[in-house]
Amino acid sequence: MSRRTVLAGGLATATASFFGAANPAEAAAATRPGGGHGGHGKPRLLGFPAIPPSVADQVMLPPGYQYQVLFPWGHPIEPSGPAFAENAGNSAAEQARQAGDHHDGMWFFPLRGGRSGLLCVNHECTTEQLLHTDGRANWSAEKTAKSLAAHGVSVIEIEQNHRDDRWRIVESRFARRVTMTTPTEVTGPAAGHRLLRTSADPSGVRVLGTLNNCASGPTPWNTYLTCEETINKYFYYGEQPPPAGSAEDRYGIGSESPYPWYTTDSRFDMRKEPNEYNRFGWVVEVDPFDPSSKPKKRTALGRMEHENAVVVRGRHGEAVVYMGDDTQFDYFYKFVGAEPIHQALRHRRSPLDRGTLYVARFEEDGSGTWLPLVHGRPGLTEADGFADQAEVLIHARLAADAVGATPMDRPEWCTVQPRTGAVFFTCTNNTARTESVNAANPRLNNRFGHIMKIDEGGNPSAKTFEWDIFLLAGDQASGATVPPDQAFGSPDGLWFDAAGRLWIQTDGTQPMVNGAPQNNQMLAADTRTGDIRRFLVGPPRSEITGITATPDGRSLFVNIQHPGDSGTPDNPRASSNWPDFSPTGRPRSATIVITRKDGGVIGG
Ligand code: FEO
Ligand code: CA
Ligand code: CA
Ligand code: CA
Repeated sequence: MSRRTVLAGGLATATASFFGAANPAEAAAATRPGGGHGGHGKPRLLGFPAIPPSVADQVMLPPGYQYQVLFPWGHPIEPSGPAFAENAGNSAAEQARQAGDHHDGMWFFPLRGGRSGLLCVNHECTTEQLLHTDGRANWSAEKTAKSLAAHGVSVIEIEQNHRDDRWRIVESRFARRVTMTTPTEVTGPAAGHRLLRTSADPSGVRVLGTLNNCASGPTPWNTYLTCEETINKYFYYGEQPPPAGSAEDRYGIGSESPYPWYTTDSRFDMRKEPNEYNRFGWVVEVDPFDPSSKPKKRTALGRMEHENAVVVRGRHGEAVVYMGDDTQFDYFYKFVGAEPIHQALRHRRSPLDRGTLYVARFEEDGSGTWLPLVHGRPGLTEADGFADQAEVLIHARLAADAVGATPMDRPEWCTVQPRTGAVFFTCTNNTARTESVNAANPRLNNRFGHIMKIDEGGNPSAKTFEWDIFLLAGDQASGATVPPDQAFGSPDGLWFDAAGRLWIQTDGTQPMVNGAPQNNQMLAADTRTGDIRRFLVGPPRSEITGITATPDGRSLFVNIQHPGDSGTPDNPRASSNWPDFSPTGRPRSATIVITRKDGGVIGG
């Protein structure tokens, strides 16, 4: 067995090795509240007591913390906008001026010192049974239009009241909805390619909308990247699924679509528009400070089921972007720009339009390689089915297959550690791993997932790296390296705050941890010591995703996605009635703001 497989086998060994604690007892002591310091004489990063698991219809927080509901589904993006109808009776046109559904990645762009700012929020998808008064019954063009309008991005301007610290949404020239009908532009190597042309757009550069906006990332030049993820489910292929081995098959297109959009809009019917789906699955750049700007689909970053996109500066000042592809046995990627960011911006070029896309290979000995996805290299020639670089990018998954990347257990969010530059990313779970493991994915039937760490020696432009497993999630029976009282499953959202706390958000579809059901949650970890503490638990059937803070760390924004999504038109409150608790209402995805009653830094 490899060194890493052995390390993954037990808590004591793993705690000492992964977290660098002198001994397991010290690491365990550090998980107790009031432990004083975090080991190594460093100041303790986590200053709150861990809370227990919960199945309550509420957002649970540690003592001394409070939250407000800021921006639930259907809330107008400006106070003067259309009010939310709790029977889901808002029209498509109203929905296009309100918060979309399924809040996911987001980012706070401070204005005027940080007590106000622009908040960009992704709306990943929709719960159709709750989006319309009568759910999926009597499907119509109006229902398709409302569903399209509930996808995309919101940009809202918010400010904090000095007297009570509460946040509110204000009238703003920046307030904006980007939806599935907003004109966008395709840029980079695949712009205008024949595989991106449709009958409505022979140019192959003018796409209506952005789809399944999962997680996100800010850029150093103050724009917002929104990442298109599970695009396959919106397109109808036909009664038979695509042939095995086809690009459509590799991109997850099935024989049916759970979204009936294609019944009223032919662009979602692949029998009529076989290329429309190629126009989704990209990282899309939105400039929140220019409400008239068109979102740009940056094709140099490759097409896949993107989770988030983390941008840092490389050794030469170029943009380096880390990205996961969230599908069972898919890959982890990195883009390295061709020129310094400042040079590109000076010449009015995007720092994301020219450069090299790499995919990660994790060796058994703990080393790793970034494999370039460049047309003409072995496996990526015309004879291999790639006519040009655009096809390498449009079919990035096929290219990554061809060069021997390491199939992972569903890479979701990544984040870069302040000061060290180490890249952490979640592998949320993979129950389809039934036959073989590798050192980076060491568990068969990986129900609970794990968190990876990549060390590039402080050089984001590097072609090689060292890697390790930061933790194995789950309960003791599954071989987890997390203390049993902090057990969690399916890590998904992941973010280092400015102080170096690692926030972990879960999206568990496996209900049982330690033999008991628990709602999804958010924990904070001190990666130096292994101290890990449950900070928040959400309402039933919600996932916790999306996280951003004010620069002072005293307001933390978190999204509660799809609470109570088993509700039906007859019984919308079947599993949750959060956050309104109206006897005639329905559960709503929402952005919440967490503050400390004493005004302190969140998590500290
Ligand atoms: Fe949108 Fe993979 O989560
Ligand atoms: Ca989701
Ligand atoms: Ca996710
Ligand atoms: Ca997930």
